[in-house]
Amino acid sequence: MSIKNKSYGHFDDANYEYVITSPFTPTPWINYLGNDGFHGLISNTAGGYCFYRDPKFRRLTRYRYNNVPVDTGGRYYYLKTDDDMWSASGRPVETELDSFECRHGMGYSRFLSRKGGISSELTCFVPLGETAEVHKLTVTNEGTSSKELSLFSYLEWCLWNAEDDGANFQRNLSTGEVEVEGSTLFHKTEYRERRNHYSFFHVNQSITGYDTDRESFLGPYRGVHKPLAVTNGQSTNSVAHGWSPIASHHINMKLAPGETRELMFVLGYVEVAPAEKWESKGIINKQPAQALIAKFDTTEKVNSALDELHTYWHTLLNKCHVSTPDDRFNRALNIWNQYQNMVTFNLSRSASFYESGIGRGMGFRDSNQDTIGFAHMVPEKVRERILDLSATQKADGSAYHQYQPLTKKGNSAIGGNFNDDPMWMVFSTCNYIKETGDFSILDEQVPFDNDDTTKAPHFEHLKRAFDHVINNLGPHKLPLIGRADWNDCLNLNCFSTDPNESFQTTQRGKSDIAESLMIAGQFVAYGQEFIALCKQLNKDELAADCQLHVDAMIQAVNEHGWDGDWFLRAYNALGDKVGSHENEEGKIFIESQGFCVMAGIGLDDGKAAKALRSVEKHLATEHGVMLQQPAYSEYDKYLGEISSYPPGYKENAGIFCHNNPWIVIAEAMLGNGDKSYDYFTRITPSFLQDIQDLRKSEPYVYSQMVAGRDAATPGQAKNSWLTGTAAWCYYAASHYILGIQPDYDGLSLSPCLPKSWPEVKIHREYRGAQYDITLSNPKGLSTGIYKLTVDGEVQIGNTINFERFNASHKVELTLEKA
Ligand code: BGC
Repeated sequence: MSIKNKSYGHFDDANYEYVITSPFTPTPWINYLGNDGFHGLISNTAGGYCFYRDPKFRRLTRYRYNNVPVDTGGRYYYLKTDDDMWSASGRPVETELDSFECRHGMGYSRFLSRKGGISSELTCFVPLGETAEVHKLTVTNEGTSSKELSLFSYLEWCLWNAEDDGANFQRNLSTGEVEVEGSTLFHKTEYRERRNHYSFFHVNQSITGYDTDRESFLGPYRGVHKPLAVTNGQSTNSVAHGWSPIASHHINMKLAPGETRELMFVLGYVEVAPAEKWESKGIINKQPAQALIAKFDTTEKVNSALDELHTYWHTLLNKCHVSTPDDRFNRALNIWNQYQNMVTFNLSRSASFYESGIGRGMGFRDSNQDTIGFAHMVPEKVRERILDLSATQKADGSAYHQYQPLTKKGNSAIGGNFNDDPMWMVFSTCNYIKETGDFSILDEQVPFDNDDTTKAPHFEHLKRAFDHVINNLGPHKLPLIGRADWNDCLNLNCFSTDPNESFQTTQRGKSDIAESLMIAGQFVAYGQEFIALCKQLNKDELAADCQLHVDAMIQAVNEHGWDGDWFLRAYNALGDKVGSHENEEGKIFIESQGFCVMAGIGLDDGKAAKALRSVEKHLATEHGVMLQQPAYSEYDKYLGEISSYPPGYKENAGIFCHNNPWIVIAEAMLGNGDKSYDYFTRITPSFLQDIQDLRKSEPYVYSQMVAGRDAATPGQAKNSWLTGTAAWCYYAASHYILGIQPDYDGLSLSPCLPKSWPEVKIHREYRGAQYDITLSNPKGLSTGIYKLTVDGEVQIGNTINFERFNASHKVELTLEKA
């Protein structure tokens, strides 16, 4: 096998798992645990960390980003016999195992190891609704003689505020505090003062010893790959006073041949009412911890929590289940894409192995977009998220670019003026209502900028978003870009020559010239959504007024935004064109092609088709569609961060996957089913199993970026997991390739299939109804004229009217002619 197609794992669809067969994947391949506020990131060797709600302010365990060796810090279990020591998860101990497997599943990760006749199975998960990671560890003597061994658990506490923890050493080397009681090791740093919470690490059996002080456990100048306590086979019973508190249990065991020992570890977080914080002076109230521990102190309880987790995920994923002739597509849509949608929805861009959890919080545009891949899964959460976002909107319709999940307040350090932000909320809200039929969200009273004296119905927030665009038009009557539009790195009003400045928050001059064609397309697309919503609400006058603005924008795009073969990208602060054949570099960009076509601009006069052929000619590669071409070879202060990246990386002509589904949708809108599908397959991980080593990042989830043609390493993927690619790819595949489009009156069906697919079956839950849908394509077409029947009854149009069909129904859609 050549190095280029070395494989590190494979899908196990029956179990909804990805099976990783090596601890030494090209990058750590991770999974996420937890959905409801308590989250863990866990790599294929159990590296990573966990936190409660906010990865910056409530970090439980330490992780060292971009350290050497990579992936340092995690939940580690050391096994030690007289002759050997190893890790139950393949690392950090360097001992090679006789066999190793990591199975990342839906909300859990399982590690199977075997060494010298001893096997272990470690399953880590966050039980539904709980604030704890549970680690179930079984150790089996597979040999013919009895064996003595020592087991050591290990994790390192983070002193809660992850930013401070990695920076403020003059304070935090003195604050660490712990308590030990029986088999529970408590972490109570800062509990003596302003914190009403603590964490703990427990095992459900008596222990031989423990350590809570890092240096005592590791030994001076030693790493987690070779702790002195493990080498010695003996804990030191250390109690941490400042420095770096850890939690490590030591358990000696003797296993008869064939004997299995099962241990349940709980890594938990509890909050305590201020009046009940102390059991006695200096001794914490342990009752809340004991209550949590009691839920998982037997194998049976843990197994049943695991069963509940499986059922939860299977039920959730079954809300939309597709069966097409292509297993790779099915696998993406039925399992991994939906799973990634949930994770991305939960965490926005805050905590991955590339987002350190101390920076960005929840992005306004990102979080709105994330809802489109998730609204069918847990709509209540989407409702709450949209209203949280709405509360960070300012009275003039603009938005804070980010907010912190714990406070839900707009992040003033970053501020706003990213002029695409506002309209994403129109998109997310309309999508939510079409999915749920819940118009009541529009009546919710929501403050502006979290100021409760300024409440207005959410509908008013949408209107102000719309108005914000029309109140901020430039010289060509196109939308002013502000600090940036969707492309955070196209900073047309920054003009920075100072390396100490942030590209995105530095804004110079009046900013009343640079205009964005991406926002123009977005405004037309979501402005039309807003108009349709107004009509639903019988606000016909408002709809008519908005239509005038949308029409004016279409006209402005036609007059000033068309470059001859494609849509321009922008006008810069000097009024010069960006993304034009007149430019030396950056002649054509993907965003304005995607958005203008998705808005329907140029569908009638051939511009849309022409723009897409230009995309194919200039931007498409085997690994996906590049963001722009030719790449910028020099830094240009009139363009900003985009030109700061080496050619082929990130926004400078990388394949920025988030925008590829826009082209998938655009091609489908033009009826090009094969082309649309082809683009989809170029970036979707389940189609790329043969190039795992080239891509490097997890082969089961999308990455933010794949290096483009100009890069030294084309095809290499970076920044996996938290990316708008997930929601958008799911949306493109489900809404446009399969054509399942929720609408106000019901579920509408407008597929644009690959011609080679004769039939597709879909199970879709919709507002509580169950539809078993068959799409038939007997003539080998992509799209055209359909015949729709529901329970055998022929329908006019292609919408399953919800009022009439709201129970269990059999739906057939036949593609009759082109
Ligand atoms: C940001 C997005 C942005 C994209 C393109 C991502 O890192 O989270 O908000 O749209 O980059 O610049």
